[in-house]
Amino acid sequence: MSTSPLSKTPLNKAASTKSPISQLPLSDYDQHRAALMAKMPNNCIALFPAASELTRSNDTEYAFCQNKNFFYLTGFNEPDALLVLLKDEQGSAKSVLFSLPKDPLHEIWQGRRIGQIKAVDDYGVEQSFTLSEIDSLIPDYLEGKSQVFFGFSDHNFAAQVFTWLKQVSSNIRQGAKTPTNLTDSDPLVAELRLIKTTNELALMRHANHISGLAHQRAMQKCHVGKFEYQIEAEILHEFARHGARHPAYASIVAGGDNANILHYTANCDVLNNNELLLIDAGAELGGYAADITRTFPINGKFSTEQKAIYQLVLDAKNLAVNAIKPGMSFAKLNILTNAFLTQGLVDLGILEGDLTELISEKKVKDYFIHGLGHWLGLDVHDVGDYHISTDREQLRAFKEGMVMTIEPGIYIPLTDLSVAEKWRGIGIRIEDNIAVTKDGFENFTVNSPQTIEDIEELMQK
Ligand code: GLY
Ligand code: MN
Ligand code: MN
Repeated sequence: MSTSPLSKTPLNKAASTKSPISQLPLSDYDQHRAALMAKMPNNCIALFPAASELTRSNDTEYAFCQNKNFFYLTGFNEPDALLVLLKDEQGSAKSVLFSLPKDPLHEIWQGRRIGQIKAVDDYGVEQSFTLSEIDSLIPDYLEGKSQVFFGFSDHNFAAQVFTWLKQVSSNIRQGAKTPTNLTDSDPLVAELRLIKTTNELALMRHANHISGLAHQRAMQKCHVGKFEYQIEAEILHEFARHGARHPAYASIVAGGDNANILHYTANCDVLNNNELLLIDAGAELGGYAADITRTFPINGKFSTEQKAIYQLVLDAKNLAVNAIKPGMSFAKLNILTNAFLTQGLVDLGILEGDLTELISEKKVKDYFIHGLGHWLGLDVHDVGDYHISTDREQLRAFKEGMVMTIEPGIYIPLTDLSVAEKWRGIGIRIEDNIAVTKDGFENFTVNSPQTIEDIEELMQK
């Protein structure tokens, strides 16, 4: 097995010397709106609702998470708002924000609100109204427009749009003109979100750095006999210490055979000697996600079998990462890594048979049971097409500014009786976050230990 092609990175070092940011400047959201409006035809309207708070039980709510398209276009982090983009027949554009009113009683009990004055002053919209004015103003905006954009994936909001359209058509005898061309805005916004700006890249680099520190802490705090949720607490602690209050998704802290449950989030079991711990955890910073996985021995020392599979997955990860550049695609990376992992599993005696046949039958997928990676951004599984036309092979060519994960894994559950017993119960994934640059890639995930030597050294301290 070849050794890791990436050089050792000193721990605790910043991913980059570029100064870190924790949120985008508000002017960036003006630019996002302008870019979207440039793609819209004249005489049209686009509607983007904010998220609502979600009840956890009785009168308590889950931590608020903004609708990511709305956030991308506003940076506004209050529930129940609505962004309206208007373009007139001459092509002049304006943004209108409807939001909750200032309310002294609410502000004493629940928290401050931005209100309509600050919405205009700070958030760069041309006009702002309270939510109570929506039902009188939106039908007016819709009347006479030739095209309406809204996200088709939000059925409740689509129903609301139809209610407003019906209000317009009820005035048809008075000469009202109802728009007839309804267009899904989701793909338009997804294409914009897929290519990150310099500031978005800086923010994601910083989210990765914080997440890397959390993975370091998890390795240092891990001991036989602790519980998975105690390590999860260490991770959340480290995120918050560095300004990332929330994880980007529910952390996976999976000891031993739990690693073979891909979306294991129960995190409730004890950590056993001689087993591995798989941690898939990333911070959310300024709305943007990191998504990092590291797998390491609970007692600080890899066994021979754990080492063999770990090195294979690490080499596959590095092989894919090092191949990333404009023009590459997930389809081509899949061919590369599937062949490499198949060869590796044959060498270890886990797969048996003719290499070419095993590759063409995709037998590696018995053990590498998920995709190689995905787009990353405001959502952990970020928006954006992977395909060109009707292909099923993720042929879309990478472009500068795209950010993705690369996350090969090998999973051999205890119940897999087709392999020798010594391999069973091993589940390993290694996941880095990569930006496509002008002529190559930047790996944001540089301070989460990944070589066997680095992990064992850190865990001995
Ligand atoms: N954390 C989910 C994933 O890696 O896709
Ligand atoms: Mn991922
Ligand atoms: Mn992940």
